[in-house]
Amino acid sequence: MTTTVAPETLTPFPLACSNCGVPHTSDRPAAICLECLGPLEVVYPADRVLPDRDTIAARPRTLWRYREWLPFEGSPVAAKDTGWTPLQEAPRVAQALGVRRAWLKLDTLSNPTLSFKDRVVTTAINAVRAFGLDAIGCASTGNLANAVAAAAAREGIPAWIFVPHDLELAKLVGTLVYGPHLVRVRGTYDDVNRLCAQLADEYPWGIANVNLRAYYGEGSKTMAFEIVEQLRWQLPTAVIAPMAGGSLVTKLRKGFGEFLAAGLVDGALPRIYGAQATGCSPIVKLFERGSGGIVPEIPSTIARSLAIGNPADGLAASRVLRETNGGAAAVSDDEIRDAIRELASLTGVFGETAAGVTYAGAKALARRGALGPDDDVVICLTGNGLKTAEALHADLDGVPTINPRLREVEALVN
Ligand SMILES: Cc1ncc(COP(=O)(O)O)c(C=O)c1O
Ligand SMILES: [Zn+2]
Repeated sequence: MTTTVAPETLTPFPLACSNCGVPHTSDRPAAICLECLGPLEVVYPADRVLPDRDTIAARPRTLWRYREWLPFEGSPVAAKDTGWTPLQEAPRVAQALGVRRAWLKLDTLSNPTLSFKDRVVTTAINAVRAFGLDAIGCASTGNLANAVAAAAAREGIPAWIFVPHDLELAKLVGTLVYGPHLVRVRGTYDDVNRLCAQLADEYPWGIANVNLRAYYGEGSKTMAFEIVEQLRWQLPTAVIAPMAGGSLVTKLRKGFGEFLAAGLVDGALPRIYGAQATGCSPIVKLFERGSGGIVPEIPSTIARSLAIGNPADGLAASRVLRETNGGAAAVSDDEIRDAIRELASLTGVFGETAAGVTYAGAKALARRGALGPDDDVVICLTGNGLKTAEALHADLDGVPTINPRLREVEALVN
């Protein structure tokens, strides 16, 4: 007798406009509502059954342990092993900041490409499969390019990846190695993004952060879910994350909110803080102005992964920082470099420039009293320092080079 195993199937939940509520009825995903141009968001079935803590805890250690909060019916067909990065307590950071306790959320160690963008690509690549699209693409400041290229390679599907021409070497090589169509565009990220919006209308591609944006963004919520579970089902009082397009901070808020609503955790929503480089800080400036919309900027900073001058979710991000009683900080390139070094020396963690922004932002917030001795703080380190090593290249000038002779070492020791 033979038993037949049903093939894995995956159905994406539908989309509706977050502005006017009109459902998106086309069988192809889109970025925006055809009625009002508002952003589309995933509509989850109201009657879905949610798991309890024990059920979740017994599942494999990947971000799919939270699958009821991810935008599909059925089992994932791709990128099944991403997520569950370490949450490392950092007492020396707590001391440096003057807070009760501090933890580092280490998406520097994300599988497979060492940044939190693996989370968003996990949902995006499954959406590509579920919609039967021919290829996956993205507009990227680097980390998303790495993550899309790796996921596409594992699936054996073509990838079209568009980046600003002047990205760091490791971001380019770390994309190209997977064999995608990599295209460097003369212009800023915002130019690249505009081009990709046109391409999404032209080709049957799923562009992760354009026509798949609603599915892509949901992957970021898993960072909040993991933080709660790794704190043994408790909430921190404050969370600090970097901002580029502004999606991550909005999805952290959504993730914490969903676990509170599900009764998986009690207490107050954490205060959410966002950090940017002063050379590209349109969301911080909007938050500080307190009204109006994003004023686009031409970026100029070593934090290239965060160099988005016209962030798609900037307004929503600024609202989240306000409504959670959090805040925002912008830091200079020198502060970013110092923060990368200090973080490494206090914790053994080498973060990329975006992590330097986040840690420098945490320090600035602590200095101005936004973080204090009653706080339990999680600092989201979203990318790995090996990808942006050139930021500290000049530090090598101070390293001695010697002949292999004992006397030369003795001279150094003395
Ligand atoms: C390392 C890193 N952290 C954070 C972000 C910001 O994410 P978001 O665009 O969701 O604000 C990015 C975006 O590219 C990134 O590469
Ligand atoms: Zn609409």
